Amino acid sequence: MKFKAIFCLFLLSFICYACGSDEINHKSDQPRNILGEKVFKRNCIACHGLDGKAKTNGALDITESQLSMEERILLIKNGRKTMTPFKNMLSEKEMKAVAEFTFTLK
Ligand code: HEC
Repeated sequence: MKFKAIFCLFLLSFICYACGSDEINHKSDQPRNILGEKVFKRNCIACHGLDGKAKTNGALDITESQLSMEERILLIKNGRKTMTPFKNMLSEKEMKAVAEFTFTLK
């Protein structure tokens, strides 16, 4: 009986661990960031273009950005100058995914 309980706990923690590793991590070789790409195409290309290089409405070339992951998330959340804030339009997960995606633009 006791063994069963321990086994269940082990199984549970393994499931949690497996879900946790689903998190986006831009250091490892990830498959394509599909969510980030989708969010980018829906929300960002009007000013930044498909390749992130367009400078419509005073936007900056994202491929030349020196901002860190955290700074990008904050910028996407709060906006800057003519860049719209996205905190009411995107979920935390979507903002993170799209920030992630901007690092893959070349
Ligand atoms: C309405 C136009 C507009 C839209 C839509 C827009 N941006 Fe911007 N973006 C800007 C402008 C303008 C700047 C430059 C702000 C400044 O000069 O301070 C900028 C700057 C940036 C930068 C920083 C460049 C740097 O190095 O400082 C990043 C990264 C960025 N945008 C990502 C995004 C992402 C991701 C989205 C979609 C979620 C997005 N932008 C949507 C206009 C836009």
